Amino acid sequence: MKSLVAEEIVKVYQEGGSRVEALRGISLALAPSEIVILEGPSGSGKTTFMSVAGCLLSPTSGRLSVEGQGVDFSRPKDMVRVRRESIGFVFQSFNLFPALTVLENVLYALQIRGKLTPEYEREARTILEQIGLGHRLDFIPARLSGGEKQRVAIARALSGGSRILFADEPTANLDSHVGLEVLGILRRLAKEEGRSVLVATHDPAVRTIADRVVRMRDGCLVEGENG
Ligand SMILES: Nc1ncnc2c1ncn2[C@@H]1O[C@H](COP(=O)(O)OP(=O)(O)OP(=O)(O)O)[C@@H](O)[C@H]1O
Ligand SMILES: [Mg+2]
Repeated sequence: MKSLVAEEIVKVYQEGGSRVEALRGISLALAPSEIVILEGPSGSGKTTFMSVAGCLLSPTSGRLSVEGQGVDFSRPKDMVRVRRESIGFVFQSFNLFPALTVLENVLYALQIRGKLTPEYEREARTILEQIGLGHRLDFIPARLSGGEKQRVAIARALSGGSRILFADEPTANLDSHVGLEVLGILRRLAKEEGRSVLVATHDPAVRTIADRVVRMRDGCLVEGENG
C-alpha cells in the first residue's frame, strides 16, 4: 500500500485582486521506505504542494489519501487528525522554540499533538540519541550548531510515530558536510524504519539519497510523474 497518494491537486491563491495558480493538477504517490526529491525553480509550487500533502493547507481541488484513508479537507479536524497521526514536517527555518531545551522542544510538540505518553516520550529520547543529540538534550537552540538545530527539527517531526516526513530545503542553511550528515539521517529513517520521505530542494547533493526525483515547473510536474 502507498503511504500517501495525492491526485490532481490544484491550489489557487486568491488575495484581493490577484490570483496565483500555484498547483495545476499534481499527482504523486509515496511508498513506505521511499525517498522522493521534489525539485524545481523558485515559485514552482514545491512548498505549496508539501503543505497540501502535509495537511497544513487545503487545496482548491483534488484528492489526498494518507495511510489508506481519504482526507476530508472541508473538515479542519480531519486535517489535524491526519497531521497528528501520520505526518512530520521539517521547515526550512527549523521553527524551534528558543526558550525550550532540545528535549523540551520535542516533548512540547508531542504535548501539542496530544501524544505526551510515556511510550512516545521514551521513543522521542531514543530518536534524539540516534540522531546524535543525546548529549545536547538540555541545551537551548541558541547554543546549538546549524546542523544540530536541523536535527532537532527532524527529531521533532518524527516523534509521535509519524510515518511520513516532509522536509522543505533541509540542507539550505547548512555547511555541505553537515548537510550530508542530515541526508544520512533521512536515508536511514527511510531505509531502516520504513518511513516515507519527501524532500523539496535546490541542493544537488540531495539527489544522492533519492529513489526518485520529480520536477515541478509553474505548478505542474514535468517529469517522473507517479512511480
Ligand atoms: N500564501 C500565499 N499567497 C499567495 N500566493 C502565494 C502564497 N504562497 C505562495 N504563493 C505563490 O505560489 C507560487 C508557488 O510558491 P511556493 O512557495 O509553493 O514555491 P516554491 O517552489 O516552494 O519556491 P521556493 O523554491 O522559492 O521555496 C508562487 O508564485 C508564490 O508567489
Ligand atoms: Mg519553497
